[in-house]
Amino acid sequence: MYVCRACGGVQARWIGKCPDCGAWDTLEEHRVDRAAERDPQRGAAEAWALDPTALGGGDAAPAAAARPIHEIDGSEANVQRLPSGIAELDRVLGGGLVPGSVTLIGGDPGIGKSTLMLQVAGRLAGSAAESPHAARVLYVTSEESAEQLRLRAQRLGVAQTPDLFVLADTNLARIIEQARRTRPRVMVLDSIQMVYKADLDASPGSVAQLRRCAAELVYLAKLTGIAVILVGHVTKEGQLAGPRLLEHLVDAVLYFEGDRYHAHRIVRGIKNRFGSTLEIGIFEMTGYGLKEVQSLGALADAAGATESRPGSVICPVLAGSRCVLVEVQALTATGFLGAAKRKSSGLDANRLAMLIAVLEQHAGLRLADRDIFASSVGGIKVAEPAADLALLLAIAGAHYKRGLAPGIAAVGEVGLGGEVRPVPQLEQRIREAQRLGFKHVIVPHGGAATAPKGDSLVRVRTIGQAIEQLG
Ligand code: TYD
Ligand code: MG
Repeated sequence: MYVCRACGGVQARWIGKCPDCGAWDTLEEHRVDRAAERDPQRGAAEAWALDPTALGGGDAAPAAAARPIHEIDGSEANVQRLPSGIAELDRVLGGGLVPGSVTLIGGDPGIGKSTLMLQVAGRLAGSAAESPHAARVLYVTSEESAEQLRLRAQRLGVAQTPDLFVLADTNLARIIEQARRTRPRVMVLDSIQMVYKADLDASPGSVAQLRRCAAELVYLAKLTGIAVILVGHVTKEGQLAGPRLLEHLVDAVLYFEGDRYHAHRIVRGIKNRFGSTLEIGIFEMTGYGLKEVQSLGALADAAGATESRPGSVICPVLAGSRCVLVEVQALTATGFLGAAKRKSSGLDANRLAMLIAVLEQHAGLRLADRDIFASSVGGIKVAEPAADLALLLAIAGAHYKRGLAPGIAAVGEVGLGGEVRPVPQLEQRIREAQRLGFKHVIVPHGGAATAPKGDSLVRVRTIGQAIEQLG
């Protein structure tokens, strides 16, 4: 059969365009092993079969009979999560790793996946003495040699951890065999794209290999109660390679954001069977690995509170249960009529186009022959419409070369009619802005939100009223 690399759709013959997702030239030949397809547990189970009762994960053994739901023992208290010891990551995971679960972590090359995973592995394995959650960890490195990993571990300060086992291998059968011998509670596989199953006639990283290897690892996790973490690469389009296939198979998908030229890294939950996907974890890359960032003001340049800068507006953006102050910047430059550039980084390009149109129609700005560049500082991706007003003010400010007075933040959604619309959880945003030194906030008119100090709010109904605030 032929499997689409982009969406995982299966076709009986090769065609240039995938009928399921419309992508071109993504179908790959995939030879079906009938026996394995019928019973996909076979591979992993056979590899482990010698002694399935001594596996630790008691109720992980498949329960064959149907039972009434209330007889199933599965209260939250019974799920013994393994806190990774890194609070920002645990927040995204929903409290820690769940035994028997499979977590996929993706991101651009060089963003810090291996670094974070090695830190997690070191913490988990190193907590043996102090914590009841002590865990043996098997770190399978299929990209680097064991010596390279050891060098990195020294840098991260986890090289002396006796319960951290390292295996440099790419053969899935050998990896599973080593897992059987070392009996870890957590296994990290860095990366899934490099692992292969020898009996499959396909190269590592191909759809066929990814599918079989991931499926076997999922069964291995369920069977043994080992929490498996898979590290995955991202294609140049920014998606997890072999994406949908893996995302369906695993329990949680985390994604590393930010770019590697910035110090900040954001880990976001895309899918999580055991928690919310709204949370983010914020890290900073240092010379000694990733450091947790607790004070979120750090993503916005603190100077914004004390000086006025045209083209730069601070916006309180929601990220899960937290509020982050993000600096939104815009620049306008002379372009050519009909060929003006509109580029955004970290912001939605469609919303940028819409806001430019709104500015032209409802605020009388002439932008048709201006190149416009917009970005969110610090590498965080802002998808919320609540950042509209800040972006709009940044563009208008850049155009008029006027900035908001120091210490003003702005939040609000902008409608196509030029009206400023209410946003969710306004109070939380206002409080966070004030905490970080932004005493005045431009907010949408109306809504039930009351500010801690009423006089520090500037309520606007239209974008015209907001633009008047530019000094
Ligand atoms: P890495 O974790 O290998 O990225 P990935 O596995 O996602 O491809 O490395 C990320 C980058 O971080 C690398 O270019 C070097 C840098 N780095 C530091 O700045 N400090 C450190 O302590 C370490 C280990 C890496
Ligand atoms: Mg790596």
